[in-house]
Amino acid sequence: MSDLKLNLGCGDTRLPGYVNVDKYGTFGPDIQADLEAVPWPFETDSVADIQLIHALEHMGQTTGQFLNIMTEMHRVCRHGARITIKVPHPRSDGFLGDPTHVRPITPNVLSLFSMEENRKFIERGWPNTRLAMHLNVDFRILSVGYKLMPRWQQRLKAGQVTNQDIAEAIESQNNVVDEITILLEAVKDAA
Ligand SMILES: C[S@@+](CC[C@H](N)C(=O)[O-])C[C@H]1O[C@@H](n2cnc3c(N)ncnc32)[C@H](O)[C@@H]1O
Repeated sequence: MSDLKLNLGCGDTRLPGYVNVDKYGTFGPDIQADLEAVPWPFETDSVADIQLIHALEHMGQTTGQFLNIMTEMHRVCRHGARITIKVPHPRSDGFLGDPTHVRPITPNVLSLFSMEENRKFIERGWPNTRLAMHLNVDFRILSVGYKLMPRWQQRLKAGQVTNQDIAEAIESQNNVVDEITILLEAVKDAA
């Protein structure tokens, strides 16, 4: 079983033990590749671990390109591969202030690529697009973590706000969460 590890959109942050991939050659990636172009230069079922650190929100300006990226990621992953995605929260100045950010990446967006979630949409009569079913891909969401902005961390630590206050603020205010970390698992077998 292949154990290839990919750091996609590596920029100047090379990860030891990973194949570091970027569109630009500026910082000497191991492989220079535009991930909006398919097929990716990796074998089917060859990858065990993907890191997309502040990278996925830069990729797939058109819907078609983004769907190609998700489909291609599923193709190269082996069953059980882990994909770590770190992105700026879409309601943060960090996200809004960079013209190379082409789309928000949220747990809701990624849930569209999960068969389990697609089945729930159908059971519950929700209109969410069943992309896992349309594209025949399946990424299970294993965990979601939110890194709060420093002033919200301080308010929580000082007991000035509750977790419920923060949950409500995340939905209604800017600059509450700095970064979202989402861990996915590629599902490829009928398990
Ligand atoms: C904000 S940087 C993050 C770099 C690194 N992951 C880090 O955390 O420091 C985003 C990187 O994604 C790369 N990138 C953007 N679009 C890409 C594409 N279509 N294919 C490959 N890399 C891409 C950019 O060249 C850039 O190096």
